[in-house]
Amino acid sequence: MGAWYGSKATMGLSQAIVGLMRHHDTYIETHLGAGAIMKRKPPALRSIGIDLNAWSIRTFCCDHKVELVHGCCHRFLADYPFEGSDPVYSDPPCLMITRKSQRRYRNHYGEADHEALQGFLRGLPCSVMISGYPSALYDRILEDWHSVSVQQLRRTKPRRTRD
Ligand SMILES: C[S@@+](CC[C@H](N)C(=O)[O-])C[C@H]1O[C@@H](n2cnc3c(N)ncnc32)[C@H](O)[C@@H]1O
Repeated sequence: MGAWYGSKATMGLSQAIVGLMRHHDTYIETHLGAGAIMKRKPPALRSIGIDLNAWSIRTFCCDHKVELVHGCCHRFLADYPFEGSDPVYSDPPCLMITRKSQRRYRNHYGEADHEALQGFLRGLPCSVMISGYPSALYDRILEDWHSVSVQQLRRTKPRRTRD
C-alpha cells in the first residue's frame, strides 16, 4: 500500500487511529478510498465501507470481508439503522483551505458538504471518529469534540550519494 503525505496508511497514523477505537461488532468507514484504516484494523464481525467513487469500490481489496457500498455516505448515514455499538470512522476529502493545490476534485467536497457531514455524524447514537487537518471550520463545528493531534513526519526520498 502506498503512503502519500497525509495518508492514513503511514504506520504511526493508522495505529493512532485504530488505537482510539472502542470494542465493536460492526464497523462503518465512510469515504473509504483505499481503506487504509479498514485494512489495518482488526476485523469486526461486520465491516461496511462506503465511497462515492466507483473506481475505489471496484478496486478495493482487503484481507477480511467488507460490505462495499457505492454511493454518497450522507445518504447511507441518513438511512442506516444505527445501534449504539457501531463506530463510524470518516476521512472526508480535505477542506480546500488546507490543501496545497486549489484544483477541484471531480467529486468536489466543499465546506457545505463538511458541515452536512458533521450534521449527520452528530446525530448518530454511536461513537464517531473523523480525520482532518486543523481548520477554523472544524474548530467551530467540532468545538465540543475530543480531538487528538497526530504529527506525521514527512518522508523524504533516500538520497543517492556518489563516490
Ligand atoms: C481523503 S479520501 C479517503 C482516503 C482513505 N481514508 C484512504 O485510506 O484511502 C476521501 C474519499 O472520499 C470519497 N468521497 C467524496 N465524497 C463522498 C461522498 N459524498 N460519499 C462517500 N464518499 C465520498 C472520495 O471518493 C475519496 O475516496
